[in-house]
Amino acid sequence: MGITFNESSKIFKLDTKNTSYVMGVEDSFGYLLHYYYGRKLRHDDVNYLGRTGEAPFTPDRNNRDKLSFLDCAPFEYPTGGIGDFRNHCLEVRTNAGHNAVELGYRSHVIYSGKKALPGLPATFGKENECTSLEVVMADDILGLEVTLQYSAFEELDVITRSVKVKNLGTKEDSIYLTKVLSACVDMDNKDFSLLSMHGSWARERKIQYRKVSQGRTGVVSERGESSHQDHPFVALTTPNITQTAGEVYGFHFVYSGNFEAYSEANQFDLVRTVMGISPYHFTWKLEKEEEFQAPEVVMVYSSEGLSHMTRTLHDLYRNHLIRSPFKDKKRPILINNWEATYFEFTTEKLLAIAREASKLGIEMLVMDDGWFGNRFDDNRALGDWFVNEEKLQGGLKYLVDEVNKLGMKFGIWFEPEMISPDSDLYREHPDWAIQVPGRTAGLCRCQYVLDLTRPEVLEHTWNSISTILRSANIEYVKWDMNRQLADLGSFNLDSDRQGELYHRYVLAVYELQERLLREFPDLLLENCSGGGARFDPGMLFYSPQIWCSDDTDAIERLKIQEGTAMIYPLSSMGAHVSDCPNHTVGRVTPFETRGHVALAGTFGYELDITKIPEEDRNMIPEQVKMYHTYNDLVRTGDYYRIASYRENNEYDCWEVVSKDGKEVLVTFVQVLNRPNYHSRLIKLQGLNPDARYRVQGSDKVYSGDALMYAGLPVENPWGDFKSKLIYLVLE
Ligand code: DGJ
Repeated sequence: MGITFNESSKIFKLDTKNTSYVMGVEDSFGYLLHYYYGRKLRHDDVNYLGRTGEAPFTPDRNNRDKLSFLDCAPFEYPTGGIGDFRNHCLEVRTNAGHNAVELGYRSHVIYSGKKALPGLPATFGKENECTSLEVVMADDILGLEVTLQYSAFEELDVITRSVKVKNLGTKEDSIYLTKVLSACVDMDNKDFSLLSMHGSWARERKIQYRKVSQGRTGVVSERGESSHQDHPFVALTTPNITQTAGEVYGFHFVYSGNFEAYSEANQFDLVRTVMGISPYHFTWKLEKEEEFQAPEVVMVYSSEGLSHMTRTLHDLYRNHLIRSPFKDKKRPILINNWEATYFEFTTEKLLAIAREASKLGIEMLVMDDGWFGNRFDDNRALGDWFVNEEKLQGGLKYLVDEVNKLGMKFGIWFEPEMISPDSDLYREHPDWAIQVPGRTAGLCRCQYVLDLTRPEVLEHTWNSISTILRSANIEYVKWDMNRQLADLGSFNLDSDRQGELYHRYVLAVYELQERLLREFPDLLLENCSGGGARFDPGMLFYSPQIWCSDDTDAIERLKIQEGTAMIYPLSSMGAHVSDCPNHTVGRVTPFETRGHVALAGTFGYELDITKIPEEDRNMIPEQVKMYHTYNDLVRTGDYYRIASYRENNEYDCWEVVSKDGKEVLVTFVQVLNRPNYHSRLIKLQGLNPDARYRVQGSDKVYSGDALMYAGLPVENPWGDFKSKLIYLVLE
């Protein structure tokens, strides 16, 4: 059993293979205190870490210095309004206008397996894969019950947390929740830095480190989605962290809307880290006997550097978060027409692309934006989900059938959450856009966001998408979302519930995607948001892959994919070979390098195959073969970051080792060449030190320990932006 409760010391101990997480009930008030998180402990006799006996923090003696205690005790789930002046997790507003909440332990239950979170994405596990704990806490003055939910994935060094809040109705008919975060961990400062990811459009998930000190350091999105700019992930790292050494505490939020995560050292250098839905414009009215379920936080601890965290998250997401039947399958190699044609295409143009693509081994045509309504540019027609027959002469079914006749599958693009002011839908239902009455809402890409929290809007959106999907043999959907939320207002909500809109919106998106998967179970869904603005664990619950970035330049992608792959499996990273000069940065890179970089993700093409240079086109069959040779390994293997262009300014290198240890694929990308008399020695990771490995296509055989401790010789390619794949097999 991964979770135990010691009746006499009232200690909960959550164990995974290499980690322990310990908390306990304090005697006088029944506070739940956090004692320890880190390397595995054999015993649970650590309640001394609560330090409740150390004067002046002696809550059991009297009320005289209660605030001193509250302001430094390591709370498992700190609450607001009672004297813990640090960042806390739960705040309310009663009808009398008060905000205090004080939680004491009431009961708990431990069971095998894990329950689903209603309406929300969450990790899942069978009875032999994880153990769960629910600790019921309560505030009797408010009649409020708070259930802290934990699961320990024993084999994976993962602990998940979430929280459920219930208005028991014994004291208040309704209570307003003004802040409900999902997790908090208090610990002594180990000179921590906070690792987080930031960016903008076409520059998503760039890795950043900041020192944790007094004052809050963190990440936040108040954009209604997880966003290009910040990412719902933080990790505390000890000094000089590397891939293979140092301690890491990773926190990842399984949610696609507003979030915040902060670390803060207090006056005594105790570090508190919290994560959850951002309280920005959040108020949730909880009526009698109603419950509010907060989303899940995934926590990973590694005492062996970043790499162990990365591989743990990859395994967790591949096996316990992504549900799609495609998660264990090679995805069809697609060609997407966005960078090929943008809005200017016809049936004939798409078929010309498909004909050429099918000859070269490409397996699916994806028709991107521009096929519907009056959509000749991005200023109009979102919401008018009927086929533009001026472009698609013969209709959608004709096009799909013709593509199928070529032996290819067909995929389509939608942006279901949006409405253009210049659309039939808006002319008929201007009130369906999210807006503050009387105020002209701001446009972004000339569009508004649909108020999907209104049942009739959700139903209409569902009918529009599903009608199209039923009209032809469509096997893939790219679900896009190209603006962030502002001017928050819904005609569906009472004034005291407008603060629910951000979260209700995310729940509505989840509901739509759930329905899509239920009614079209064989559909391959790829999420997207102006590139990678909604690349988050929440979305992975619905789609096995997410478009990583609109920046398809192979060199820009190195940093974007480094950050993304640090916390997401390669199988989920949407990556395409595109044409040069690259449409985002104008850079020219070798076609081969573009292929090697896209191979680290889902792999596909996004170019006008009828127009690219002959020599590039001629390389496609070879790249198709490369994908079929290595994709099983890339999709299912263990990923290791070997070198980072972000750090060394010269080259990038990553490695995938098959789970059985028999295959190793190294990708080396030289960004800038420089004179070098010797080959570069690249130290591999994750090999068997006693085994020997043969480099495919040569007679070179190396031992595993030499490859890891001395390095694999890799000759400098001639020129910039050149890359190599090196495939080694166990002798
Ligand atoms: C943003 C996406 O990231 C692109 O790939 C493309 O689908 C455009 N939207 C279409 O408008």
